Amino acid sequence: MSPPVSIPASKCYNIASIPADGIGPEVVEAAIVVLKQLSETLGSFTIDFKHYNWSSETYKKTGKYIPDGGLDELKKHDAILFGAVGAPDVPDHISLWGLRLAICQPFQQYANVRPTKVFKGTQSPLRNCKVGDLDWVIIRENSEGEYAGQGGRSHRGRAWESATEVSVFTRHGVERIMRFAFETAQKRPRKLLTLVTKSNAQRNGMVLWDEVAVIVAKDFPDVTVDKMLVDAMTCRMVLKPESLDTIVATNLHADILSDLAAALAGSIGIAPTSNLDPTRENPSMFEPIHGSAFDITGKGISNPVATFWTSAEMLAWLGEDDASKKLLDAVERVCEKGIVTADLGGKASTVEVTNAVVEEIKSSYGKAAKTA
Ligand SMILES: NC(=O)c1ccc[n+]([C@@H]2O[C@H](COP(=O)([O-])OP(=O)(O)OC[C@H]3O[C@@H](n4cnc5c(N)ncnc54)[C@H](O)[C@@H]3O)[C@@H](O)[C@H]2O)c1
Repeated sequence: MSPPVSIPASKCYNIASIPADGIGPEVVEAAIVVLKQLSETLGSFTIDFKHYNWSSETYKKTGKYIPDGGLDELKKHDAILFGAVGAPDVPDHISLWGLRLAICQPFQQYANVRPTKVFKGTQSPLRNCKVGDLDWVIIRENSEGEYAGQGGRSHRGRAWESATEVSVFTRHGVERIMRFAFETAQKRPRKLLTLVTKSNAQRNGMVLWDEVAVIVAKDFPDVTVDKMLVDAMTCRMVLKPESLDTIVATNLHADILSDLAAALAGSIGIAPTSNLDPTRENPSMFEPIHGSAFDITGKGISNPVATFWTSAEMLAWLGEDDASKKLLDAVERVCEKGIVTADLGGKASTVEVTNAVVEEIKSSYGKAAKTA
């Protein structure tokens, strides 16, 4: 009698999907199609999605983006796949704080990870920047700093009205993001971290930021660190992209620098974001960097690559490193074939890019590929 064959139980991940507004539903739908194909083809994990229709439409109907008990519901999931929030008829600070930040902050997703690179088959607007010259990971502090939510307005509408927006830097908050950034740099081949600051002008919070970085650096002697003022950093990103690798910056600075990074890599339509709770007490949230893009909503031309890439980041976070790499490789091969949307200079629709990635997964990793 032959010994019993042990079949490893396939892991099943429960993902909450919140497509929300504008092109969010288009790109999240595309990512779900691709993730389901990957799971079916590889057979090493399954993935279940539960959809939440929290959006600006819900807000307009009910006065809330997240219903009572919504965060407890979300907490039951392994991760969250998010689209974008923002509608032309809702002020942006209401939509951002009502949905995205209302998840990031209570879930302590303090590390925001934003990788950027020039994909094969795509072009940087920088004349001399080739594939490999721009390959960065921006680590954004995601829980305090300029977006801590402190401040207020008084004497509304009067000539003497005043408003404050208080940046908050705590030793605990700075230390944990620095540690995360050093660990990220340490895992990358170049082991190079650039600390972005503005401590020449902002002499309290930013000086604490710099000081804590120096202390944390002592635990990472193999990581080379350099420091840049945020204004000079914009020049270095454009003029010497190859001199950068891992970058750590505050909530506001990294928010701005990462959009610049995305544009320098070819388009904001390819750039992903992970909002991580590194303690893993709460689910982490994965989304494209871009917003709702009202100007192209419903036209079928939104670039789904950023949401594919963030889905690959989500798989890696869940421990599916092989699947993550396979997904990103498949996406890059599709770009290399020139099947790209208009923002990358192509003519393909969202659905055409999605179908091409699905076919690429089947042909590269399916039965036919295994027997070839
Ligand atoms: N994380 C988020 O949910 C998030 C992020 C940024 C902006 N927003 C919100 O989105 C709304 C629009 O903001 P915005 O116009 O400043 O930024 P945006 O990212 O929505 O759009 C900027 C430009 O990039 C283009 N673009 C964005 N994503 C694209 C894609 N996938 N494919 C092709 N082109 C793409 C758009 O067409 C637009 O021309 C606002 O309400 C804003 O508050 C939300």
